[in-house]
Amino acid sequence: MSSTEPIDHDRAPYADAMRAYGEGDWVRVHVPGHMGEPKRHPLLAEWFGDRVLELDVPPLIEGVDITPDPTPITQAQRLAADAWGAARTWFLTNGGSQANHLAVMCARQLGRTLVVQRSVHSSVVDALVLAGLSSAFVHPSVDDHLGIAHGVTAADLSAALDANPDAAAAHLITPSYFGSVSDVAALAEVAHDHGVPLIVDEAWGAHFGFHPALPANALSKGADLVCSSTHKLGGSLTQSAMLHLGAGPYAKQLEPMVVRGLHTVQSTSTSGILLASLDLARRQLATGQARIGDSIAVADEIRARVRAHGRFRIASDDFLQFPDVIAVDPLRVAIDTSAGGISGVRASKVLINEHRIHVEVATGAAIVMVIGAGSAPDVDRIVNALHALPEENGGGEDHSALKVPPPGESRMTVRQAFFSPVEVVGVDAAVGRVSADTLAAYPPGIPNVLPGEVITAELIDFFRGTTAHGGYVRGAVDRAVTGFRVVAE
Ligand SMILES: Cc1ncc(COP(=O)(O)O)c(C=O)c1O
Repeated sequence: MSSTEPIDHDRAPYADAMRAYGEGDWVRVHVPGHMGEPKRHPLLAEWFGDRVLELDVPPLIEGVDITPDPTPITQAQRLAADAWGAARTWFLTNGGSQANHLAVMCARQLGRTLVVQRSVHSSVVDALVLAGLSSAFVHPSVDDHLGIAHGVTAADLSAALDANPDAAAAHLITPSYFGSVSDVAALAEVAHDHGVPLIVDEAWGAHFGFHPALPANALSKGADLVCSSTHKLGGSLTQSAMLHLGAGPYAKQLEPMVVRGLHTVQSTSTSGILLASLDLARRQLATGQARIGDSIAVADEIRARVRAHGRFRIASDDFLQFPDVIAVDPLRVAIDTSAGGISGVRASKVLINEHRIHVEVATGAAIVMVIGAGSAPDVDRIVNALHALPEENGGGEDHSALKVPPPGESRMTVRQAFFSPVEVVGVDAAVGRVSADTLAAYPPGIPNVLPGEVITAELIDFFRGTTAHGGYVRGAVDRAVTGFRVVAE
């Protein structure tokens, strides 16, 4: 894990090496088949520019991946580890989803049950299927008005681990989609006291720790494995991500597990462009505090002007009242539009159609805008468009989110259900049947039914309400939600 190279965050060793190759005068008779020849592939070149073809460098190129040790990618990953405070970092090209797949593969090597935050991302459920782990849930607090989940408390995690003495690891999400941050230090202590590592899905917090006004990152608070969607707010290209290994008591045990597991979830043709973007994003985050400060100032100004106008409420203003929230990401601007007489879903549609403003997510009651670290969108345009939104039906409607019903009874593991013979049944016939798929109402996308759980009448009503309000149900057989895939009887 250690290295003797000096740490210089102004370097981008992998990006520089692949650029040197891409710009070099080579006859490239290797994949990819476009061979970096824009003239012979005018359609690709017209769409993306010549440079994308030139820089589309695959693995195992002399001078890029084949060099004396440490190779450029090793150096780049070491710089990233230093920037985030990790014992070791791996670059990934299939998103935070891949980081979750990999982390769960590691957990499976430690035991058979994963204690998981219920508002888990679907990639973790997929990983449970792939790895064959059972799940035991720890429930986050839910804001019933906004219909969103926050995090979990140390006490709740402790109770879940007490109830599952055979747990392999705990897997939690922080920050949440809406930017609420859990107390990772307390959660890590609880996990370690119970003899298990803490895996943190920090998909939405790749930028944490890179500015004094941002929350600390999970590694600095004792997390053992951290899954990061670096592309979300960290500034790398879409689908690029990282897995970080913490320097805590499980580092030695987990490191070889990650190395082994990586082969099972990584393409043998990783995109040089995505990898280079991670190297560049690290360089920009580690050296760009002033730019990040600008982004925070933009977000603060939007919030201040919305508060001053008085029509809408800043949804995150009372997040700290929830017992599991200790901080809020300032780069998430969460606005309770229902306070101003319009649902979040409708507000988002009007912003798109009439103002060409596309927000990150909309729920029945709110919208969330994300400001990437270093970015600075047009504040006037956003604030003016928000205050020009129409009131729906005179503003008297209740836009509170539909209350999320409790999950049905679990009759088999997610893996058993996923690999069982399945049949498609109509919505009404699905009541009482065991789901073969994950069903999640969007927004906000928290899994309501996992494979192996019984579909209840209450859940069906909730899904109907979701579609009636313009949402959809991921995992239903079609967008109109005419049926569900259930385990055949
Ligand atoms: C909490 C969480 N984890 C993981 C992911 C997956 O990340 P990616 O889209 O980079 O695969 C997401 C995606 O939205 C997420 O919200």
